[in-house]
Amino acid sequence: MNDFQPILTKHVGQPGSATLDYYLIHEGYQAARQAIHEMTSDAVIQVVKDSGLQGRGGAGFPTGVKWSFIPRNSRKPKYLINNADESEPGTFKDRLLINHNPHQVIEGMIIASKAIDCHLAFIYIRGEFVKEARLLETALEECRANHMLGKGIFGSNFDLDILVHRGAGAYICGEETGLIESLEGKRGWPRIKPPFPAIEGYLKSPTVVNNVETLANLPHIILNGADWFRAIGASHDSPGPKLYCLSGHVKKPGVYEAPSGIELTELIYELAGGIKDDRRLKAVIPGGSSSPVLTASEIDGLKMDYPSVKAAGSMLGSAGIMVLDETTDMVQVCYNLARFYAHESCGQCTPCREGTTWLTKILRRFTQGQGRREDLDLILEVTDNIGGLIDFSLGSYGKTICPFGEAVAWPVRAFVQKFRNEFMDYLVEDAVA
Ligand SMILES: Cc1cc2nc3c(=O)[nH]c(=O)nc-3n(C[C@H](O)[C@H](O)[C@H](O)COP(=O)(O)O)c2cc1C
Ligand code: SF4
Repeated sequence: MNDFQPILTKHVGQPGSATLDYYLIHEGYQAARQAIHEMTSDAVIQVVKDSGLQGRGGAGFPTGVKWSFIPRNSRKPKYLINNADESEPGTFKDRLLINHNPHQVIEGMIIASKAIDCHLAFIYIRGEFVKEARLLETALEECRANHMLGKGIFGSNFDLDILVHRGAGAYICGEETGLIESLEGKRGWPRIKPPFPAIEGYLKSPTVVNNVETLANLPHIILNGADWFRAIGASHDSPGPKLYCLSGHVKKPGVYEAPSGIELTELIYELAGGIKDDRRLKAVIPGGSSSPVLTASEIDGLKMDYPSVKAAGSMLGSAGIMVLDETTDMVQVCYNLARFYAHESCGQCTPCREGTTWLTKILRRFTQGQGRREDLDLILEVTDNIGGLIDFSLGSYGKTICPFGEAVAWPVRAFVQKFRNEFMDYLVEDAVA
């Protein structure tokens, strides 16, 4: 970490960093020009595959591999969608990238479009991000005015336009197939996979959905090469610069860019200044609210990359790190989380729709001091019925259409299993005694 210089957030806070003029004098659009004029689609895919870039939206799926699933000989149009929904609680990194450097994200989209032969791309942005949507519109206009978007971009014969689509404020529209439905003008209901979007996505055509941060990495990979990227970070399998969002009981909450695989304790105690009021750490939610909580004793030496956090029994997810100190009431946190998910369930699958509601009801009983001893096992049974084992990179293996079911089942399970004693304190018989 010592000699690491920010890459994705290098220009954050610089006056005018969101403008095209600023971007152009800082190597802006050189990588896109190179990809359009000097590289074949296959070459772009290969360098991204070789770089080892993993999607930053949550699943950590290798980006180049995902692109290679797009059928090259399909006569249907191919689409790229930039997922700027950023709906996972505890996550606020994509917003920062758009706010301070929208052209970096757009340049990444041009490179990805070249890779998959896409000529119309979308930015699906969370409805609440009004300022960011306007910034993107302005940046796109600047590109069109300078022949970086539209017919024959950069003087080539490659056509590309990018449109901004504002969401209507549903968490589930961050899930790629819910997002695609919403973009098509329908209710944001996730689709059963397969078929995967690469085969049948937007308007039943081959589609790639990539996260904002994933796309922002691309200009740097094209300019500096795959080996440069692979050399960043602690793990050869999960390399690159990474944005970590720190919130909760830390002295300096915020977004921190660090090499992938930085230790969680370094993020908390050095970059984020340690625990507020120098209290003791109780637990950490490492990858947004859908990742299982880790206790203070489980984070010692934990490297913050996809395989390491998975091996620790949780997920790096969206890298939304929520730090909880010794004063935190874990029953209240768990209830709050379940309530959020019950509200955001799209309602298509019975286990998710009913299960999240039951969990909320049972957990509410606890918060009101009315918990029953048998409720603890009941909670585990309900979580089991919502979702089984899951690998987020492949989709849901469980009992629901999308991984949302597991996104609530897993964390709730972890709270009850790891902080059972705190739930016991809320039992009705203890209250009576
Ligand atoms: C319930 C749910 C919510 C999601 N929300 C987001 C989101 O807000 N932003 C995002 O980029 N990915 C989100 N994802 C992951 C996307 O489905 C998809 O995997 C990702 O956008 C792919 O981009 P990547 O390969 O660049 O990571 C969500 C997934 C699930 C299951
Ligand atoms: S798991 Fe939940 S959010 Fe996902 S499709 Fe089913 S009901 Fe909707």
